[in-house]
Amino acid sequence: MDQYRVFGNPIKQSRSPLIHQSFAHQTQQKINYQSEYVELDQFEATIEDFVKSGGKGANITVPFKEQALTICDQLTERARLAGAVNTLSFVDGKILGDNTDGQGLVQDLLNNNVPLKNCRILLLGAGGAAKGVILPLLAQLPESIVIANRTLTKAESLIKQFNNEKLSALAFTALKNEKFDLVINATSASLSGTIPSIAKELVVNTHCYDMVYGNELTPFLLWAKDNGATKVMDGLGMLVGQAAESFRIWRNVHPEVAPILQRLR
Ligand code: ATR
Repeated sequence: MDQYRVFGNPIKQSRSPLIHQSFAHQTQQKINYQSEYVELDQFEATIEDFVKSGGKGANITVPFKEQALTICDQLTERARLAGAVNTLSFVDGKILGDNTDGQGLVQDLLNNNVPLKNCRILLLGAGGAAKGVILPLLAQLPESIVIANRTLTKAESLIKQFNNEKLSALAFTALKNEKFDLVINATSASLSGTIPSIAKELVVNTHCYDMVYGNELTPFLLWAKDNGATKVMDGLGMLVGQAAESFRIWRNVHPEVAPILQRLR
């Protein structure tokens, strides 16, 4: 049976094995997918061992996504621009690296009937999470993407790397008179129970997405809902979406995300 893994530290909380086993069942693919804890200094050696044992592919999660990029023989453009790899394929002695996070987000937005073409998007945050979704969002032909970050210089240097006229960088305080159709929270603020300090007018009648998810609505989504957002969505759909895209890369079949998403909720 073909072997797949998700490697990370920590890893106990990972839902990837459940998601991939469900995809395999649904599409009648015979695969074995497990999670594996990796010591911080053992990433490369662990991948090497897994390849030697005949492993076919792997998902890479925190904190190894940037390191994973450095061990690849080939990279997709979206992985290169994301500066991080979450999907490895081991083919003919070569390591192929991809990043499916952005496609997972885009697919989840589209599944939620959020239009992206010609939309004005506000992307909050300028760390790894934000960087990973920019190219797939641009591929949906939005009117513009404003990247706003608490530390403005980080947003400015991020857009320089993409060199695309649809991108601009603003400070939170400079957003006051802007209007957006979709606000995406790619900051890690929700993880510490806080929200980015943006004006509440920005979420009135907009779609709001938080890349973080939990059992309850995240602080950002609760706040957005209270302040008149049309629709609020958390990152669970993105998680399932990125897994579906990895599965497609490995197995060349598109699994359905709705049944497993419903089960996880
Ligand atoms: P990740 O890989 O999750 O993107 P990261 O690269 O450490 O993590 O980036 C975290 C992002 O969340 C940054 O954009 C950070 O803003 P700064 O660059 O100003 O530090 C943002 N962030 C974290 N906590 C935040 C908060 N309470 N309010 C606003 N932004 C926050």
